[in-house]
Amino acid sequence: MNYTQFPYSRGRRLRNSENIRRMVSENSLSVNDFIAPLFVIEGKNQKTEIPSMPGYFRFTLDLLLKEVDEIQSLGIPSVLLFAKVPDEKKDNEGTEALNPDGLMQRSVRAIKQEFPELVVMTDVALDPYSSYGHDGIVKDGQIINDETAELLAKMSVSHAEAGADFIAPSDMMDGRILLIRDALENAGFHHTGIMAYSAKYASCYYGPFRDALDSAPGFGDKKTYQMNPANITEAIKEAVTDEQEGADIVMIKPGLPYLDVVRAVKEAINVPVSVYNVSGEYAMIKAAAEKGWLNEENAMMEALLAFKRAGADLIATYFAKNAARLLQTPLLSRRDPLGKRG
Ligand code: PBG
Repeated sequence: MNYTQFPYSRGRRLRNSENIRRMVSENSLSVNDFIAPLFVIEGKNQKTEIPSMPGYFRFTLDLLLKEVDEIQSLGIPSVLLFAKVPDEKKDNEGTEALNPDGLMQRSVRAIKQEFPELVVMTDVALDPYSSYGHDGIVKDGQIINDETAELLAKMSVSHAEAGADFIAPSDMMDGRILLIRDALENAGFHHTGIMAYSAKYASCYYGPFRDALDSAPGFGDKKTYQMNPANITEAIKEAVTDEQEGADIVMIKPGLPYLDVVRAVKEAINVPVSVYNVSGEYAMIKAAAEKGWLNEENAMMEALLAFKRAGADLIATYFAKNAARLLQTPLLSRRDPLGKRG
């Protein structure tokens, strides 16, 4: 008789109650894992909902500070900032990106002044500042690499001067991590970290984000710098390269359609791996929930847990606040997020 077979072995014994399931759970979500993305706009006392991201808002800096207060009270350790730049301040070189009094720099200063413990990360790429909506400088219809990378290094130092804890380059230019690390070291910012968007795919799932920042590319697409969704070996190479160039954290983006990439990168490198649960993934769950086709909370928690299972250490997600709130509710008094017993 083989006692490791049915009926001696029954998988269902370990699924028989919430407490047993909790004891043998292989992965779990924690508020420690969350990075909350934030969109900041010029002006005062305004909060505008992003049409393709229901329940998610752009804030003027005064209101943003209240939002950040709430985020910190929920125990979320980190925010990732994106600034919406007015059209008249956009040009090909993204000049406004280096303005020490630009919206991004002012926001970082204000947040760090009020919430010194909060980890503030800043997006570094030219697209919100570019009249072409591209992540780099455009010359003869091409997105040129090396000049862009130098500019991104200056932009990073400017964010570090404003007080950013982590620089998050999302542009996919070659060699930029090395240049940024070098620039930060030379400027004395030894403790400013880099979270590199190492494997960022040319994805349709960024659509709602581009609505939020009005940053869609004016011509062409981003396929000469963002990755081909068909590739995984290349993602590992990009992550390894960024680790060698000095990235403290690497990121995979988007999230849900790329869980295999998260796992592969996690196994290939020795720095924390983060994943970006992007705007289109948020929009999908929201839209299905609005139609009554999915339970929003359950879909959200299942997706976030899937990132942990895939090997992610950190999750940038528009669901950060909602998920943090759910995680605060004592487990046995709340609805089982993954289905009732029985
Ligand atoms: C800009 C940037 C994008 C996102 C983060 N940084 C859009 C893009 O590359 O076009 C997408 C985030 C999201 O969709 O939630 N470089």
